[in-house]
Amino acid sequence: MARRIVGLGGTFRPNSSSERLVRSVLTTCEALGAETRMFDGPALAALPHFNPESPERTPEQTALVQAVRQADALVIGTPGYHGGLSGLVKNAIDLLEDTRTDARVYWDGMPVGLIVSAAGWQAGGVTLGALRGIVHAMRGWPTPVGLAINSIEQKPFGPDGALVDDGIAAQIALMARQIMSFSLEKIPA
Ligand SMILES: Cc1cc2nc3c(=O)[nH]c(=O)nc-3n(C[C@H](O)[C@H](O)[C@H](O)COP(=O)(O)O)c2cc1C
Repeated sequence: MARRIVGLGGTFRPNSSSERLVRSVLTTCEALGAETRMFDGPALAALPHFNPESPERTPEQTALVQAVRQADALVIGTPGYHGGLSGLVKNAIDLLEDTRTDARVYWDGMPVGLIVSAAGWQAGGVTLGALRGIVHAMRGWPTPVGLAINSIEQKPFGPDGALVDDGIAAQIALMARQIMSFSLEKIPA
C-alpha cells in the first residue's frame, strides 16, 4: 500500500514559502509512490482555537485529526514568528492531542519532516529546534535532515513557482527519501 503522508503548514499569505516547501516535499514523496494530503494556511486558519476542555469538533478539525490518524508520515512547515512557531501551526498541532488515546498514540513511530522559513538564520535554527522538541513530545521521529531557510537571503522559487535553488532542492529530495525509507521494526509487547 502507498505511504500516506500529510503535509501541514503555511500562513495566511497565498503561496507562502513554508507552504511551498512542504508541498515540494509532498510532491517528491508522490514521485516515490506516496499518497499525500496538504493542510495549507487557509485550511489551518479554518481551525478554531483548540480547547482541551471541549469535546466538540468542527468538520475541519475532524478532517485533520482523521487524516493524521491514517497517515504514515508528516511534513510540517512553519514561518519563524518571534523566534518560534506561528500560532496557526501550533494550534493545528495542539488539536492532535485528540490522538493521545488512540491505539497509535500521537505520532508514535512516524517520521516527521520539518521545515522553517524565517527572515534570519537565528530564528530558523531556534524554530527548527523547537519543532524537533515538539515531535519528540508527540512520540514522532524527526527526520535527520531538517530544512531552515532564510527568506531574505534565499529565494527557492522562481516566478513560475518552480524550485530553482539546487541546494534546497537537494535537501528536499533527501528529506523525502528519509521519510519514504523510514521503517521501525515493532517489538511485540
Ligand atoms: C508576526 C511575524 C513575526 C516574525 N518574527 C520573525 C522572527 O522572530 N525572526 C525572523 O527571522 N523572522 C521573523 N518574521 C519573518 C518571517 O519569518 C519570514 O518572513 C518568513 O520567511 C515568512 O514565511 P512564509 O513565506 O512562509 O510566510 C516574522 C514575520 C511575522 C509576520
